[in-house]
Amino acid sequence: MTSTSTTYFVGARSERPWWRDAVTYQIYPRSYADANGDGKGDIEGIRSRLPYLKKLGIDAIWISPWYPSPQKDHGYDVSDYMDIEPDYGTLEDAKRFIDEAHALGIKVIADIVPNHSSDQHEWFQEALKSPPGSPARARYIFREGKGENGELPPNNWEGIFGGPAWERITEADGKPGQWYLHLFAVEQPDFDWKNPEVHEYFEKVLRFWLDLGIDGFRIDVAHGMIKAEGLPDVTEEVELLGTQLMPFWDQDGVHDIYRHWRKIFDSYPGDRMAVAEAWAPTPARIARYVRPDELANSFNFTFLDSLWNVDALKKAIDGSIEELHKVGAPASWVFNNHDVTRSVMRFAQGLKGGGVSTPQERYGDIAKFDAELGVKRARAGALLMLALPGGAYIYQGEELGLPEVYDIPKDRLTDPRYKLSGYKDTGRDGCRVPIPWTVSDKGSHGFSTNLSLGRSDSWLPEPTWWGNYAAEKQENDENSTLNIYRRALAARKELSMLGDGTMEWIEAGADVLAFSRTDQATGKRFACYVNFGAPIAIPTGEVILASSPPTGDVLPSDTTIWLHI
Ligand code: GLC
Repeated sequence: MTSTSTTYFVGARSERPWWRDAVTYQIYPRSYADANGDGKGDIEGIRSRLPYLKKLGIDAIWISPWYPSPQKDHGYDVSDYMDIEPDYGTLEDAKRFIDEAHALGIKVIADIVPNHSSDQHEWFQEALKSPPGSPARARYIFREGKGENGELPPNNWEGIFGGPAWERITEADGKPGQWYLHLFAVEQPDFDWKNPEVHEYFEKVLRFWLDLGIDGFRIDVAHGMIKAEGLPDVTEEVELLGTQLMPFWDQDGVHDIYRHWRKIFDSYPGDRMAVAEAWAPTPARIARYVRPDELANSFNFTFLDSLWNVDALKKAIDGSIEELHKVGAPASWVFNNHDVTRSVMRFAQGLKGGGVSTPQERYGDIAKFDAELGVKRARAGALLMLALPGGAYIYQGEELGLPEVYDIPKDRLTDPRYKLSGYKDTGRDGCRVPIPWTVSDKGSHGFSTNLSLGRSDSWLPEPTWWGNYAAEKQENDENSTLNIYRRALAARKELSMLGDGTMEWIEAGADVLAFSRTDQATGKRFACYVNFGAPIAIPTGEVILASSPPTGDVLPSDTTIWLHI
């Protein structure tokens, strides 16, 4: 039996910062609920679903960007950091939503996008009108091109969505001029974080939202703000060695930013926090973002990236816990978000989470897709995730067992990745389809208050089978995915040994992941068994919950069970 621990905080749950245990629910505002009937989600829609979220039992909501944006990357291209996208509502709506969530005991996390702005941000517009070398240009990364007439990009970096990471501009005299860096879409110019003005600006932005009552931030591309000195070319050697650092990822300088931000958060009452979206190559590098004087959480992408496989998951869990323990941080388990193929499809098809760029990598062999098996595994995965030490992040629709929509008509795809990949990768729209609330397809399955909209009329069309997964259909079915999540989240609140703390592996055979958790005060024990192989006898103990109904005394394959032992 090996013992692993992430605890440095000893004491009752009510005494430790909420973010050490929290289950946070991610909302992609465009796709959650449409209150004004325009086929796009909005803040009033989200507010109308607060009772649903309360009943689900989550602790916090993370809302993907809700700021004014030309929507080239659905809000991750921000044109004004201190206002609300008019399609989504107003600042008053946001304030009302935050207050109502708080009244229900739910925290609210905003998504901050500090690596880049929209090209429509007033700073970038000013930079375009200002001459090379001007203070306005110095807020972004403008450089002269290479070649005789500056016609070649300043270095060989490629954009994450495909194509070169540099765009050449036309200067005021009408001639081709400098180039600017955009690690993502052309419309997403990177800020220059070597410029103190950028630091000051974001400090103002953070305080603006903290003053409005926001409990924390999800930091977009948290590993990208600092670029290597001199912007060196990516060499073949760096690309080939997957764990080597790219000159634009995970540079040491980003940590200075977070040490400063932590001081800002700590100057407010109520354990304000941030969670890093840091796609760092190893658990050790991910753990650097959550050192005691840095951020609260960092998404566990090693876990998200694992296949549905006993050894891969055990390795990801052990590696993460070991590294987080060294810095005293809680784990932040996650299987789904708005950037990756939904776990229902990944687990059924044997696919990993990150780094995909072809339909084959995203969806596998569609002809072989077994949605029922995917849902079974995703539910088993959820009970695994929610029993592990630390907190967890779930993505809207995960609690309904939604599969990926892999066949959105090509002319309806909106992810910038589709075009920038030269139409090779269909992109991330398949996990962003509006949530099915009702069985009837009226109002895009209840997504919209506008009942004249059919299932194809919301901003992304819904498939014919969408109603099978509707929240309404699952509401009163005891064994629905929705009710499994509700029971699991309720149990987390009730059982003091869940959430932050320690775990011990239990030896239960090659195809079973099993571990126990002990309440330090009472000595009461809890166990979680995940069966990846052939059916096994249900272990001795009092059953709390199972991800699929057990058959007699047998724990079927791809099933997780929670027990008092
Ligand atoms: C992050 C977001 C993703 C976005 C990108 C650029 O990875 O999660 O959706 O496209 O940053 O902002």
